[in-house]
Amino acid sequence: MCLQKKKDIKFTLSRQEDIIFGVNQTLHIPFSWADRRPIWLDKFFYVPKAYDRHAESPPQKMFTNDAPICIEYCCGNGQWIVDKAKQFPHLNWVGVEHQFVRAKQTWVKGQKQGLTNLCVVCCEALLFTRHYLHEKSVSEIFVNFPDPWPKRHHAKHRLIQPPFLEALARVAYGKGYFVTDDAPYANQMVRVVKGSTDWKLLLEAPHYVHEWPGYGSSFFESLWKQKGKTLHYIAIERNL
Ligand SMILES: C[S@@+](CC[C@H](N)C(=O)[O-])C[C@H]1O[C@@H](n2cnc3c(N)ncnc32)[C@H](O)[C@@H]1O
Repeated sequence: MCLQKKKDIKFTLSRQEDIIFGVNQTLHIPFSWADRRPIWLDKFFYVPKAYDRHAESPPQKMFTNDAPICIEYCCGNGQWIVDKAKQFPHLNWVGVEHQFVRAKQTWVKGQKQGLTNLCVVCCEALLFTRHYLHEKSVSEIFVNFPDPWPKRHHAKHRLIQPPFLEALARVAYGKGYFVTDDAPYANQMVRVVKGSTDWKLLLEAPHYVHEWPGYGSSFFESLWKQKGKTLHYIAIERNL
């Protein structure tokens, strides 16, 4: 099923995980189980779900220049990161999103606007950070509205937890920003940063603010603001 055609860019999806796109790029799909592998295609990095041979695919250089790299984890449909990539063309931007359809939406936005400073990664955030990023290669980190998993017995699925901050500490050398509408998750984020020797909180207690002029707008930021929800912005910095 061909979902989108634009000039010489062809984006074909037969199952969520079976993709072909790009000029003269052929990938035989569906992957056989044994052939499943991460692929790099035209500013899109794809790691098949349940793939576990990460050591066989070392990190690659994502951009041809050496400009600082900023990452947005959980980029959703890409509204926030595409705006940032346009606004700050001297920086490199990487959007990480584990849902293929949303990663594709972000990539399509970037391609339509001719953004050469934006890469999209379809992979789970912790896996990508652990296995596919070079040490001290990331300048700034943004996590905008990660899934809050509000039920207590689901909270174990939240992204901002000690293993993620540890993985980030290996690859990052600058600041990080977390944004959530969920007050318990905001407090958990603060606790997790306080418990880390690698990171420090930059804002005074309660360590978040409810507004951050100029931070940028995302689909969920607009949605929650429209519904009158209170947002929480947390800023952290790497202890070096
Ligand atoms: C509530 S949405 C926010 C999307 C976007 N940041 C925004 O503000 O509009 C959360 C997004 O994070 C993605 N996500 C959740 N957990 C993830 C993980 N561990 N790794 C990568 N993406 C994840 C979800 O698929 C979803 O698109």
